[in-house]
Amino acid sequence: MVALTFDDGPHSRNTDDIVNIFSKYNAHATFFMLGSNVVKYPDVVKRVYDAGHEIGIHTWSHKELTKLSSDEIKNEVNNTASEIEKITGKKPTLVRPPYGSINEKVRNAIDNPLILWNIDSLDWKSRNKEKIVPLVLNDVQDGDIVLLHDIHSTTVPAVEEILKYLVENDYQIITVSQMLNAKGYDLSKTRIFYSARQ
Ligand code: NI
Repeated sequence: MVALTFDDGPHSRNTDDIVNIFSKYNAHATFFMLGSNVVKYPDVVKRVYDAGHEIGIHTWSHKELTKLSSDEIKNEVNNTASEIEKITGKKPTLVRPPYGSINEKVRNAIDNPLILWNIDSLDWKSRNKEKIVPLVLNDVQDGDIVLLHDIHSTTVPAVEEILKYLVENDYQIITVSQMLNAKGYDLSKTRIFYSARQ
């Protein structure tokens, strides 16, 4: 099993395009959303949720949490969680800190599991399918968490190729919570995950 994760959205068009590709392959993803974009595109948030994907918290304004006070960190997380809950009716539990930036203060301020990644597609940097796809697939293994961004249009065709390969090679493509639960991890407390490789 593999968990594909999408940060920084939702986006008015690309997020829907990615959801449609996932439907075609009967697969599910985790979308770590920014509160500032959630309030801009609530209908996209609803469609992502209704299609069976997991929605996680990527903070409100994408600041580096290590540079904020504990109260500011809590506000970034909790305000985003409550906006998502208003739309979907479900409180999101997973948090992805912007830039993967964490320290003791961040860990203490957040009660939720912190989800990092072990495969970085660098899609934000290359904006090029020919570079994104091999970065993800060359080293993919059971339990991996892959970082992608649904705000870039160049990520959309890369997702199509990645899903096609993974499905053909019998990987289950499921949400982060589904994968961590399947691997026997306890998601009820603060803990940092880079992958579910065992
Ligand atoms: Ni981000």
